[in-house]
Amino acid sequence: MFEQIQRVPGDAILGLIEAFNKDTNPNKVDLGVGVYRDAKGTTPIMRAVKEAEALLLKNETTKSYIGSHGDPRYGNMILPMVLGEDSPILAAGRASATQSPGGTGALRLAADFIHSQLPGKGIWVSDPTWPNHLGIFQAAGLKLSKYPYVDAENRLDFDGMLAALKQIPVGDVVVLHACCHNPSGFDLSHEQWHDVLKVVQERELLPLVDFAYQGFGDGLEEDAFGVRLLAENLDEMLITSSCSKNFGLYRERTGCMIMVARNNEQMENVRSQMAIVARENYSNPPAHGAAIVTEILESAELAAQWREELTEMRDRINGLRRDFVEALAPYGLDKKYACVGEQRGMFSYTGLTPEQVDRLRDEFGIYMVRSGRANVAGLANENLPYVAKAIAAVND
Ligand code: LMR
Repeated sequence: MFEQIQRVPGDAILGLIEAFNKDTNPNKVDLGVGVYRDAKGTTPIMRAVKEAEALLLKNETTKSYIGSHGDPRYGNMILPMVLGEDSPILAAGRASATQSPGGTGALRLAADFIHSQLPGKGIWVSDPTWPNHLGIFQAAGLKLSKYPYVDAENRLDFDGMLAALKQIPVGDVVVLHACCHNPSGFDLSHEQWHDVLKVVQERELLPLVDFAYQGFGDGLEEDAFGVRLLAENLDEMLITSSCSKNFGLYRERTGCMIMVARNNEQMENVRSQMAIVARENYSNPPAHGAAIVTEILESAELAAQWREELTEMRDRINGLRRDFVEALAPYGLDKKYACVGEQRGMFSYTGLTPEQVDRLRDEFGIYMVRSGRANVAGLANENLPYVAKAIAAVND
């Protein structure tokens, strides 16, 4: 039977991990998969996480199932982090949280929920978007379409985006990146979020906001501007939140599916369906990562330490963005790549072409996604001059 099965190329992002590890170039630089790296190039375990894990090891009493929605204590911590401490939606009991295996797991829950409960609804993603959005939504059987987001000059194409959103069939689902747009790094201004809200209201769209990088752009509260604006002005929306990046819990698969409904009763109806979707996918979510997050956020001391560490990571990335542009100045390329200084989050759409990306890999051992997406966190003071020189070489 298996003789008919075709081999396919591996995932374009995850495949870079293996390719980079195999490369013997001593100067190699990994700007591929989206993980934070410190100045030494390592992806450290946050100190607050280590302390929380020590407490868990001491106090944990069972490994029994936690139920399809996960631990309610975790949901009680994530909801205010995402929607705001004083959120009127929380006060009205209109929002609910389902713990998920990472942000990816939350996206799959959202996709399956849309497919089974809102049949016929198309889903619209930005062009470009995180490639796995395409895989997840199509695997769930949704009809996927794109709206423009980045223009040919490698700038945010907000006019194009808004014009396209105005054409989306009434009632369809629109996927928005809350902050730190993956892969481009181009985020919406407050004014632009207001414009998007207006179109979402006019077309009665259901927003599905992917919030994978809270705290990596301008701050935990600042990054939530768009999510909270939509949540406070719309009756219904879906939000997928992730603790992979902001708690550095990548492999622990820690995320959350947040549903906002018109009233508490409808929220409970939606929530009951979400439990079935989770049950049919994986039954119960993994517990460890969410237990760490809960431990941290329930402790004023650990939460303060975590916020401090998150600020360090964000400041480092934003500093590297400026340093990158400066390092290109001697080659007269600072203007060409000035966008890197303005974008936010882990990623930058650099504007490098696939051919330039191939040359960077083959001639210099510098790895990034072929779309020209670079993980800025992979840069460091030590490798910046080398990366700048290589970019100048492929621009010749
Ligand atoms: C990325 O975009 O590099 C990260 O979100 C990791 C992944 O799963 O693709």
